[in-house]
Amino acid sequence: MTIGIDKLSFYTSEYVLDLVDLAQKRGDDPDKYTIGIGQDKQAVIPNYEDVVTMGANAAVQIVEEDDRKNIDMIIFATESGIDNSKSSALYVQKLLKLSEFSRTIEIKQACYAGTYGVMQARDYVATHPDKRVLVIASDIARYGLGTPGEVTQGGGAIAMIIAKNPKIAAINPDSVYMSQDVADFWRPIDRSEAIVDGHLSTDIYKEMFLTLWKRYQQQTGYVLDDFLGFAFHLPYTKMGKKAFSQIINEANESRQELLSENLIASQKFSRDVGNLYTGSVYLSLLSLLTYGQELAGGDRLAIFSYGSGAEAELYSITLQENFHEYVLGNVIEKKLAKRIKVSVDEYEKIFSDQLYDSHRNVTSDFKNKEYFEFLGWKNGERQY
Ligand code: CAA
Repeated sequence: MTIGIDKLSFYTSEYVLDLVDLAQKRGDDPDKYTIGIGQDKQAVIPNYEDVVTMGANAAVQIVEEDDRKNIDMIIFATESGIDNSKSSALYVQKLLKLSEFSRTIEIKQACYAGTYGVMQARDYVATHPDKRVLVIASDIARYGLGTPGEVTQGGGAIAMIIAKNPKIAAINPDSVYMSQDVADFWRPIDRSEAIVDGHLSTDIYKEMFLTLWKRYQQQTGYVLDDFLGFAFHLPYTKMGKKAFSQIINEANESRQELLSENLIASQKFSRDVGNLYTGSVYLSLLSLLTYGQELAGGDRLAIFSYGSGAEAELYSITLQENFHEYVLGNVIEKKLAKRIKVSVDEYEKIFSDQLYDSHRNVTSDFKNKEYFEFLGWKNGERQY
């Protein structure tokens, strides 16, 4: 039985910050941000959005009647959740009016958790072939105003439906994975911003990619020439480039050219949105499926997922015939182009207003009625 990604969607906020403006305000050379780090723009998340609204707004784009009847599991991956007890998946189930005869769960391991969700979903469908699983990966990446990590912030959500006979890509049973206790990035429960050793995290990411790539080749017998493209977890686009440059010479010359073009294709959306933590690697996949060159049914792509702390997984997918028809890339491109640009002052105000405080009754001037949104607190619980 072929199991894989049947549908894939993305949502982010309607506000965007130009990182050239941010560089100028912070007294940095804009080239450091746009070339050195590889980010042009950053999603700015207003306080009427959170991981639940963004997850629901991503999922509502793909959940149709057939899904509604057959989804009996909702897996919500996040490292910026809204409650220390209740799962964000429960809120999504209610907002989307999905069946109550479902399993709803939230999972966490930094930016890696979305991939764990995908793998759990695949294994579940293998034993329940008529079921469909909704996997959501939703986050707000916060480092703090004026910090080195500020340029690598962002936010948004990916939603996927994992099912048999998928329309987009089959997930191949060839995963290699590893985990190690590393203090590169973490967020104690009393903090709304991550603590990070950015340079260490970059080194661990590169090391884990190389280790897993070697292990993958040993276990499967595949070599780089067997792949048409890679989707990387992209905390910033230069990160994928740094990791990939370690192995690119293993391909033949013409394949190197194509892989390099497809690496740029896989970074386009992230360049304009920033880090989504759990969803980033699947935004990279969406970008690759939208802009990748020479991709056709039967082609093999690699997915490298990384989460600080640290855990990583490398696996491959096989594109399905006519997959292009089911990729919503052009719709996303148009939505991103329509976002409202905010000044650095506006961004700083919105950023500071995002803080979670269950004693405060939040109301905002920035509301948009078209989508699910956070309305405020009632008895300490967030209302949507
Ligand atoms: N023109 C062009 N390039 C320039 C430049 C200029 N004027 N000035 C500097 N650069 C280049 C530097 O040479 C450097 O390039 P290389 O990395 O290729 O050497 C790049 O810009 C960045 O410069 P610095 O290393 O000096 O930048 P920094 O100290 O401000 O930190 C960062 C950069 C580590 C990415 C920081 O933004 C950070 O800590 N980000 C958050 C952590 C992170 O994203 N880690 C990634 C892996 S962890 C992960 O993946 C999980 C997750 O999502 C967090």
